Amino acid sequence: MDVLGIETSCDETSASVVSDGIVKSNVISSQLVHQKYGGVVPELASRAHQRLIIQVVDEALARAGIDKGQLDGVAATYGPGLAGALLVGLNFGKAFAYALGIPFVGVNHMEGHLYSDFLGREKPSYPFLSLIVSGGHSMLVYVESEFRHRVLGQTRDDAAGEAFDKVAKMLGLGYPGGPVIDRQAKEGNPAAIRFPRSFLEEETYDFSFSGVKTAVLYYLRDHGLNPKSTPVEPALLADICAGFQASVVDVLAAKTMRAAREMGVRDVCMAGGVSANSGLRRRLGEDTAAGGFRLFYPALEYCMDNGAMIAYVGWLRLRLGTVSGMELTAVPSLELA
Ligand code: KG4
Ligand code: ZN
Repeated sequence: MDVLGIETSCDETSASVVSDGIVKSNVISSQLVHQKYGGVVPELASRAHQRLIIQVVDEALARAGIDKGQLDGVAATYGPGLAGALLVGLNFGKAFAYALGIPFVGVNHMEGHLYSDFLGREKPSYPFLSLIVSGGHSMLVYVESEFRHRVLGQTRDDAAGEAFDKVAKMLGLGYPGGPVIDRQAKEGNPAAIRFPRSFLEEETYDFSFSGVKTAVLYYLRDHGLNPKSTPVEPALLADICAGFQASVVDVLAAKTMRAAREMGVRDVCMAGGVSANSGLRRRLGEDTAAGGFRLFYPALEYCMDNGAMIAYVGWLRLRLGTVSGMELTAVPSLELA
């Protein structure tokens, strides 16, 4: 079964072909137009998706060596995400499937991230725990079996990736912030500046990252630093990044490990843009190894938003006989139910 997957929920225009669960192509066009605004501008995102969608889909089919007439189904993200951005991929996907006379299925973007750990050669076994950390979400999910899952906790304010992006902006490091803070943190001492850890109440698996973000803001203010006008001295900048990253990683790792023990799983997965973070990978790598768990994380191209994870979930759903009607519309605040 050959399935085309389309993802346009935020600022990546992506398409992929998955054949019987194997990724044949994964084309991602990251919109650079947002960089100069320090964040995603929704209207510009929709326009860029419209401009890119046809060539990205064509390229995905070409790289997979598949003619559109050979496709057995089309999947597209229908939420959560930016309404105007979602509509581009969703409507394209519906029209494409309709014209070809093949089934269409709408995919929840968060299920895409959840199953991105199945795109590698080694796959997790049910039940497993997944830490999904991206620009829009931070959640811990217990996955009992295929499409049977329970959200144990999520962020109460900023998502983990959002905190990286906002702190990077404060430091004058540009957008997206995760990769550049990750790089800076490698040069710094994570113990030099201690930013607060927000573990919230003991019993909850919810997260909160707005406190650490504010702490960085106060640190800059209290030390008379104004990165927007005067760049922070390199060694100090690296220490601030390392200290901030350590705070986020500490909380994510501690809650993930506690949930893994409590839920009695053997496999622990990470997914989403922040799962690319080298500090988080190292820390969870150590903690899971010490606890006798197996750790999974996606290849870099599957951590960020990508069509492959959408095609994969589409394939799983179509295989079960699930199809969506042409009336399916974008649901910007779709939950992981
Ligand atoms: O999954 P994703 O591509 O899009 C969403 O669904 O949000 O995640 C993007 C987020 C951004 O906030 C970006 O700063 C963050 O992932 N990110 C990272 C790293 N690479 C990307 N955060 C920390 N460390 C990284 N290496
Ligand atoms: Zn995402």
